[in-house]
Amino acid sequence: MTAPNISPTVDLGKFNSVVFADRLINWYVANRRPMRWHGADAYSVWVSEIMLQQTQAATVTEYYDRFMHSFPTVHALAAASQEVVLAHWSGLGYYARARNLHEAAKIVVARHGGNVPNSLNELLNLPGIGRYTAGAILSIAYNQPVPLVDANVARVISRLFTLNELPTSREGNKNLWAITSHLVPLQHPGLFNQGLMELGATVCTPTAPDCNKCPVTSLCGAHATVDPSQWPTKTARKKFVQQIHCSVVVRQPDGGVYLVRRPSRGRWGGLWEFPRVECKQDETPCEAAERAARQLLNVPITDVTMVTAVKHTVTHHNITLYCCTAQALEVPVTGEGIHLVSVESLPDYPLAAPQVLLRNQILCPAKFEIQQALTL
Ligand code: ADE
Repeated sequence: MTAPNISPTVDLGKFNSVVFADRLINWYVANRRPMRWHGADAYSVWVSEIMLQQTQAATVTEYYDRFMHSFPTVHALAAASQEVVLAHWSGLGYYARARNLHEAAKIVVARHGGNVPNSLNELLNLPGIGRYTAGAILSIAYNQPVPLVDANVARVISRLFTLNELPTSREGNKNLWAITSHLVPLQHPGLFNQGLMELGATVCTPTAPDCNKCPVTSLCGAHATVDPSQWPTKTARKKFVQQIHCSVVVRQPDGGVYLVRRPSRGRWGGLWEFPRVECKQDETPCEAAERAARQLLNVPITDVTMVTAVKHTVTHHNITLYCCTAQALEVPVTGEGIHLVSVESLPDYPLAAPQVLLRNQILCPAKFEIQQALTL
């Protein structure tokens, strides 16, 4: 099983990966939190990385010391009983990690003479070792330019390149591995990988990245934006449905206009609006306005004029709402769901956000122009 060699979706030719690696490694060496397993052999790196999965470094230290005291070599671990190994893990949680580590130690002794493998394929064949742990062992203990991606690295890389894919999606994850494969340097790959993880853990944090302390801001795409914390993308990109609607402002000769109340459930439930329909295919806004008056006010209209349009986004719909004005040819019957409202009283009616824009334009006709509405 070898890692697939795929191309990243970003143009790394334009990215100065030499400067990036230099700055990151220098920063890491100067700022790293001291950890027991720094500079250790492959077995120690392996144990620490398994413990560090799902557990904070501060908690791991005490367990790591006790574990390494009892099982200082892979031979010692392989020779222990599962019960004793699990007792050393007690309190760390995720006990499958300990069982797999123990099983893998037995395999390393039986098949590899007690030497932790130094090839990706052999490591990936051991229980409990995935691409992340293999990358950590190979880069930190064996100085091989092999990448690794954990949640901290995913965040740093997503911000650096302002990636729009969800890091946990198939494509997003593949892309992160492809990018880190290109970035990991031949010199000091272990320091580089640990630098990425440490930067994510201490500076490039999820909600409050401290960009003033970051050594690579000048290379970072997210830093150049208003809010670097908006990366990584939190949810899969929505697919937006385009809709065209039309509302009609039916005027009475005395100046009043008609509002209708929406059904109490569903989008904009219970709010009032100028009679509105979704335009059918090939239907002009003016034709839709006539249909809206017929269906919702039960009257024919005349002098239909398109006056404006607003754009509005609600959930996964991008709505363009046209607005026409017209005169009624008959007097609509008002009642619970249909009100004749003077222009001055319009602000008393709760309207959905795009209808508020239409209302404001009616109150202030000089501002008739396409506007952007915020989601209600
Ligand atoms: N942060 C810095 N170094 C690390 C390591 N080796 N494993 C996990 N997180 C780290």
